[in-house]
Amino acid sequence: MSLDDVLARIDAELPAATDRLLELLRIPSISTDPAYKPDCEKAADWLVADLEALGVDAKKRTTPGHPMVVGHVAGDGPHLLFYGHYDVQPVDPLDLWERGPFDPQIEDTANGQVIRGRGSADDKGQLMTFIEACRAWKAVHGSLPCRLTFFLEGEEESGSPSLVPFMQENADELKSDMALICDTTMFENQTPAIVTMLRGLLGEEITITGPSKDLHSGYYGGIAMNPIRVLSRVIAALHDDDGRITVPGFYDGVPDIPEEMAAQWQALGFDSDRFLADVGLSQPAGEAGRTPLEMVWARPTCEVNGITGGYTGEGFKTVLPSKASAKISFRLVGDQDPHAIRKSFRKMVADMLPPDCEVSFAEHGASRASSVDISDPKFEATLKALSVEWGVDAAYIGGGGSIPIAGHFQNILGTTPLLVGFGRDDDAIHSPNEKYDMESFHKGIRSWARIVDALTRS
Ligand code: BES
Ligand code: ZN
Repeated sequence: MSLDDVLARIDAELPAATDRLLELLRIPSISTDPAYKPDCEKAADWLVADLEALGVDAKKRTTPGHPMVVGHVAGDGPHLLFYGHYDVQPVDPLDLWERGPFDPQIEDTANGQVIRGRGSADDKGQLMTFIEACRAWKAVHGSLPCRLTFFLEGEEESGSPSLVPFMQENADELKSDMALICDTTMFENQTPAIVTMLRGLLGEEITITGPSKDLHSGYYGGIAMNPIRVLSRVIAALHDDDGRITVPGFYDGVPDIPEEMAAQWQALGFDSDRFLADVGLSQPAGEAGRTPLEMVWARPTCEVNGITGGYTGEGFKTVLPSKASAKISFRLVGDQDPHAIRKSFRKMVADMLPPDCEVSFAEHGASRASSVDISDPKFEATLKALSVEWGVDAAYIGGGGSIPIAGHFQNILGTTPLLVGFGRDDDAIHSPNEKYDMESFHKGIRSWARIVDALTRS
């Protein structure tokens, strides 16, 4: 029995694999909203049952939050761990969805077939690529390719609060030769890729309070300090005219990318005009003097993700609000220390407050950037397997998003993460009408079969 038999089995089973994914997509496992707790349990149960069908000893493991699914299967060769997450983002704004987010379907589009539904690309479709590759392998060979651990999380989209304690408590069980993670995208939608660095993330919510209650802006306007005015001044002060972030000490630990990496990225020929044009933009708006790829992969950012305060409903109301708040996230690179930045940011905001105003802060996660050393020959073997499957040279790329567990695998378990995903820029993850291309799903499954074949041979 050869790899070709496994690939043929994958091709033949694609309709059944798609049906299984659609079933998982029908479970609204939104981790951040307590109303969906039973659905998170349901998704975990579904995965346990599916892994058991593969002969994996799988269990739902309770945590203070949503359960983890952990499964093991014995075998020879390397011990590979696979990580994915079964939770999904909330669906709002619901009115922008063309069909129910949890009523998934296959659609024909100008760019081929897509699987439409919340979680199709982030991350249920991606995690099923690995499970389906294992299923085909087992059908052909009668057993799985090597010693495997499946580690599926249900809190990734809500900051993974239970993850670090769980990894610490179960370190011996989860330690492996390599952690395969399928939660990233390809390069420019067609080049399969290994992500070698990811940004960290620091989340802060600030609430500025002025008057003790909402006021009529005619009675009090002019004499009372408006917290929205204060908040706006704080937000405006976070960047200078060159797009650099002004929080004191923010750039401590930010490295320039090594020359070799700069040259390799240059050779990718990133079409930033198209990248921007696809979302109705034309000008890079990051730090002056940085290339577009640096802006999205290698430079830290500060973004306001939401602002509230005053009257935001229909029509108009002459109110001077008591409070105004903003959710602010920082993407971090290199050795930037999220805790030091949090402290400095809070001091900067507090120092800007006028009399009678107060500020309170809420934390929303803090994770460092991560990067991997690609000298292990498993990386080249994976790159080669991807190149053969997709018919184009696979690339090492950066990732602008954050997958904190990649760093935890390194720091807590001493396990190197291998980040391979088949998402595309236009998948609309975290947005209405999320989709996963059928090609991503199909070739993703085939890619894992090739990768696992390569890793267990090398
Ligand atoms: N799949 C994404 C991360 C991602 C997106 C990596 C695009 C590379 C390219 C993941 O599910 C995610 O959205 N992570 C969050 C962080 C988390 C701590 C909430 C993110 O990056 O905002
Ligand atoms: Zn994800």
